[in-house]
Amino acid sequence: MAEPKENMQMEKIVSLCKRRGFVFQSSEIYGGINGFWDYGPLGAELKRNVKELWWNTMTRQREDVAGLEATIIMSPAIWKASGHVDTFSDPMCDCKKCKKRFRADQLCDDQYLTLTKGADGKYVLPAGTKCTSCGSTELTEPRPFNLMFKTYVGPVESEDNVAYLRPETAQAIFAQFKNVLETSRQSVPFGIGQIGKAFRNEVTPRNYTFRSREFEQMELEFFIKPDEAVEAICGSVQTVPETGHPGEPQPNWGWQAWHQYWVEERVRFYEGIGLSRDTLGFHRQTPEELAHYARACVDILFKFPFSKRDEKGELRGEELEGIAARSDFDLSQHARFSGKPMGVFDDALRTAWTKLPKEKQDDLWRRYYENRKRYLTKSGVEAEPAAKQATEDANGLAKGQYIPHVIEPSAGVDRLILALITNAYTETVKTDDKGKSETIYTMKFHPRVAPIKAGILPLLKNKPELVKKALEVRDLLRPWMNVYYDDSGSIGKRYARQDEAGTPYCLTIDFDTLGEKPELLDTVTIRHRDDGRQERLKISELLGWLLSKIR
Ligand code: GAP
Repeated sequence: MAEPKENMQMEKIVSLCKRRGFVFQSSEIYGGINGFWDYGPLGAELKRNVKELWWNTMTRQREDVAGLEATIIMSPAIWKASGHVDTFSDPMCDCKKCKKRFRADQLCDDQYLTLTKGADGKYVLPAGTKCTSCGSTELTEPRPFNLMFKTYVGPVESEDNVAYLRPETAQAIFAQFKNVLETSRQSVPFGIGQIGKAFRNEVTPRNYTFRSREFEQMELEFFIKPDEAVEAICGSVQTVPETGHPGEPQPNWGWQAWHQYWVEERVRFYEGIGLSRDTLGFHRQTPEELAHYARACVDILFKFPFSKRDEKGELRGEELEGIAARSDFDLSQHARFSGKPMGVFDDALRTAWTKLPKEKQDDLWRRYYENRKRYLTKSGVEAEPAAKQATEDANGLAKGQYIPHVIEPSAGVDRLILALITNAYTETVKTDDKGKSETIYTMKFHPRVAPIKAGILPLLKNKPELVKKALEVRDLLRPWMNVYYDDSGSIGKRYARQDEAGTPYCLTIDFDTLGEKPELLDTVTIRHRDDGRQERLKISELLGWLLSKIR
């Protein structure tokens, strides 16, 4: 469990978040509602910046990704096909003595124990598991609890009208795959990105906003050719080392190279907004942990103050984002359940196939057939129809058709916000000449995500020339970025206010700006948040200078 010192750190962060308007408890005036959080003025800006950066990096700045914005409520058939109706559950258990309810895997994890499955597939609590509230060992056996929020569409509350609030944004991308493909002029490999709300009725929401019941996801589904198609076209499939960036995408990349590429691209994204590699961790899921359709999954972790420590005493970190290689499972499921084809036609494959030697064709045909048959039988299709369908699929491959595979980088907005807040939080104790000490709080956000980019401070508020000039500077910058005009209190106080909000730059408009020293006419002082350094810059150069820092 996290040390008391680290719990105290979280308490201080939670308090600053409320005091400065980053995060509020939802419905606070009615006592709150567990697992729901609101973002205040600074939090809303921070969140907007994070989402915009993700969207720009993942869609606008790439040729090979298109965007989507789908509804939260979709046909319940989607959740049947995806497996969520039947299997999207967490194991839950109760303490028979104090009646407290737990997520069984978390309860075990908190005690450095592992929840295992018995021969019948049901979860079993390991010997010695205790209630972390009262210490009793009298706990019910874990039972599955489906995490989807149910509602009804239309006025009649009948089983026929049941719908679900989406528990992930991903499924809409799969359901709209064909529409996006046909309208975006993309071809495989390409991706579809989406940002939006997701809902999970978590058994035990905890760790502030980390595990909420309503949250936002930023998901990319990146569609790639199956390895057999790559091999047919390029002669072989290139694999890459499991660490390090593999460089620019290549036509001969199979799923493993694409997976490694996206892990490293996502790490670059985090580094680019101020989360250095040493604040991150990685967890490569073991074969036992992987979903049955997944070939690999790497979780990018962030070392939160509440993270548990490993045997060496190092913070282990908690999941910020998972990057999964999901094979062709999702599109295949939607093809089977909807009866609509989800395959694509690849001219390069069709041409290459005809030029392959017969043995190569047979080898690729067989491998593709085996993969398809494995998927179908695992999904509950009887052996004979599965073999028939797999034969059709492999014959399709020989004619240039396949169902694309998917690499999925899936990130949580709220977890990233919490990571950025805990990473930025800095305390410094300052002692004045009289020996009086005071704790100063600075939120050291990277300028790209900082809620306010610049504080605009006229030296004095009762000098109309200073105020006029300061308002001109504000109006120059305002169309491009969020700035904050502040003319009340001493300059020192105003700096401190902006430091707590995490504003990277304060611009002071003083008498030199007005030309008291002629050579400084129309310049402002830029004060840097993290080291207090000051420099002068011409107002005419200000916009370009700031844009270069925040983009
Ligand atoms: N489509 C794949 C998917 O949804 P996930 O690991 O269940 O995978 C992806 O969720 C990300 O969504 C997580 O890495 C996390 O950042 C975020 N997330 C999931 N559940 C969350 C919750 N209850 N509260 C906040 N964020 C959550």
